[in-house]
Amino acid sequence: MKKLPVFKSKAFFAPMAGVSDPAFRLLCKEQGAGLVVTELTSVHAIIAKEKQLREQKKKITDFVEYSDKERPVSVQLFGNDIDLVVKAAKIVEPYFDIIDFNMGCPAPHITNQMAGAALLQEPGHVKELFTRLVKAVKKPVTLKVRAGISDSDKRLFLPIAKIAEEAGVKMVTLHARTLKQGYSGKADWSLIKELKENVKMPVVGNGDIWSPEDAKRMIDETGCDYVMIGRGAMGNPFIFRQVNEYLETGKYDEIALLEKLQAFFNYLEYAKEYNIPFHAIRTQAMQFTKGLKGGSELRLKIGKTKSSEELKRIMLEAKKI
Ligand SMILES: Cc1cc2nc3c(=O)[nH]c(=O)nc-3n(C[C@H](O)[C@H](O)[C@H](O)COP(=O)(O)O)c2cc1C
Repeated sequence: MKKLPVFKSKAFFAPMAGVSDPAFRLLCKEQGAGLVVTELTSVHAIIAKEKQLREQKKKITDFVEYSDKERPVSVQLFGNDIDLVVKAAKIVEPYFDIIDFNMGCPAPHITNQMAGAALLQEPGHVKELFTRLVKAVKKPVTLKVRAGISDSDKRLFLPIAKIAEEAGVKMVTLHARTLKQGYSGKADWSLIKELKENVKMPVVGNGDIWSPEDAKRMIDETGCDYVMIGRGAMGNPFIFRQVNEYLETGKYDEIALLEKLQAFFNYLEYAKEYNIPFHAIRTQAMQFTKGLKGGSELRLKIGKTKSSEELKRIMLEAKKI
């Protein structure tokens, strides 16, 4: 019952707040991502929203949105209070294939609650959390973790991953940076290799994959079972198709401008189905202009748009450049 789903690709799409909305996840899925994950969601918010939505005869999935077309899809939770983590997980588990727990977020408003990456410092608490969480839900539980807090303790992930595995966690993703690093410097892939050598569950390597060649190099250098791509997929869902092609054949096709535009227009259509705020749609549009000729002028224009129709018109101008 608690087995991981079958993943059709080794390349997963990373949870990214404000980026991995259900419409963009669907594009990544269509382009061959093996797994997509919701952005991190507060267990407090899930519990409060569920009550509110229940009173309106609505479901929690009006808040944590997803579609069956994304499957397998994982929901990522963050929090510190074990009772609340368990309660929130039970609310969302009927809809998702995996419950992922965030121990990687470095944002102060989250680490100040001793959640996200701050939990790396609390192995006893983490042990109780995973033991209770795994027992409470029918779906597999996974962990996404940073390496440590700072360079001096950058192997905190090792005891944490072992504790998680013993408690029944089924897969671990390591973003091979410390909390203090934020997104700066380089991810230390040798830590992913160490993790792979120390646990039996599948390991997902994450950090600084920008191309299919990077993905292959991470797998070759670390032995990780899967790779997770975040920023490299922003405005570029095609990277999943390219990684799949490259791992299979050793080469991959470039993406034509028309295909890129069509994918963005598909995004706009999908976005209509979900409660995606326009500012988030606009940010996605900016990402799609990366690498296009005249991209900076397009971005200036995009910044002034007020509707999806306007966005579409401006993106069509890219064809003429
Ligand atoms: C804008 C942004 C939002 C993010 N939000 C989340 C999140 O909600 N949950 C999470 O576990 N990691 C989050 N991350 C971290 C990514 O999942 C990933 O671990 C990190 O970006 C390193 O991978 P990359 O080098 O492929 O981008 C976020 C990263 C970015 C850039």
